[in-house]
Amino acid sequence: MPIKVAVIGAGGIGRTHAGVYRSDNLSELVAFCDIDKTRADAAAAQFNVPAYYSVADLLKNEKLEAVSVCTAGMENGGHHFEPVMQCLEAGLDVLCEKPISNNIVEARQMVAKAKGKGVRFGINLNHRFTPPAAKAKEWVLEGKLGDLLLCNMTMWIGNPNESSPWFHIRALHPHSLDIMRFYCGPAKKVHAFFNRSPKADGPNGKRVCWSNVQVNILFANQVVGHLTGSYDANPAHNLERCEVMGTNGRFVLDNCFEELTLYPRQSQELTVVRNSIMGGLTGFGDTFPRRIHRWLEQVNEGARPDQIEASGADGLAVQEIIEASIQSWENNCVVDLPE
Ligand SMILES: NC(=O)c1ccc[n+]([C@@H]2O[C@H](COP(=O)([O-])OP(=O)(O)OC[C@H]3O[C@@H](n4cnc5c(N)ncnc54)[C@H](O)[C@@H]3O)[C@@H](O)[C@H]2O)c1
Repeated sequence: MPIKVAVIGAGGIGRTHAGVYRSDNLSELVAFCDIDKTRADAAAAQFNVPAYYSVADLLKNEKLEAVSVCTAGMENGGHHFEPVMQCLEAGLDVLCEKPISNNIVEARQMVAKAKGKGVRFGINLNHRFTPPAAKAKEWVLEGKLGDLLLCNMTMWIGNPNESSPWFHIRALHPHSLDIMRFYCGPAKKVHAFFNRSPKADGPNGKRVCWSNVQVNILFANQVVGHLTGSYDANPAHNLERCEVMGTNGRFVLDNCFEELTLYPRQSQELTVVRNSIMGGLTGFGDTFPRRIHRWLEQVNEGARPDQIEASGADGLAVQEIIEASIQSWENNCVVDLPE
């Protein structure tokens, strides 16, 4: 039987989730919910399902097994807490958009609530759900790289929005940091520098948002990681690159899913895996059905909450790195992450 799902938050991303649920055999889209009546009605009409204007009403009237929470708010995560907590409390499996929350205290409460209720809690950290990313993970697990030593991550995109000083790191870098953790495991220590680009009409001629960042991470396995992030790139040349080096070789994953190359330490023979021969994603949008399908598979198989890939705990772990980066910059220090 398909899993009965509702989508909360009827913006562009909520509609993307709904489209995936509609076309995936593992799910049945049964309702839309948005506190903005016009938005709820329009999305519900588009997908021919009932509209609700509060989560309480949705939960009272529909028999659901899972929900997608696609709200946004401050730093794209300020509104997730309330609907996620309501749905977890009701015993539903919840897939929440990233960032899990822009507020670390609330993020911790969400993960604790999911654990307490014994329900599955996933975050849409979709960048790791591509065939080349999975292949790179396979190489790491097979020992093709040997013992890991270094990780270099770049995520530069163009985004002129100025909602808050920490908008860039809190809203974008759950993705890059998740990719780094995907290969290198839990992080232990963090240090960061930030920089703002010039902006003619901004305060002191600068952007409000710290639009460039460099984060240094020491992982628990002693891997040394480095992220540079930016909201100041030319959108026509967005860049996402992950390089991991070990004692036996390194890989480079270019532009999220486009090309993966293995450079063995002892040989000139490279392995190049192109997107076109690995299922051929047509663009970044294809990461949504892939991630959501994996979530549905895990819910359908009855996976234990602690087996969920890109879980609430993973979403929290990247937010902890983000908050530690901010603390590091504000206090000019290296920050130890919570165990
Ligand atoms: N994973 C990705 O690659 C990716 C890409 C882009 C955006 N996102 C994330 O997707 C999320 C949504 O983005 P968007 O652009 O669609 O946002 P949006 O602001 O257009 O839509 C959010 C909707 O949520 C509704 N809402 C707020 N609180 C609510 C509540 N308590 N109950 C019901 N509805 C509520 C709002 O009225 C609004 O219509 C953000 O968290 C963003 O970070 C993820």
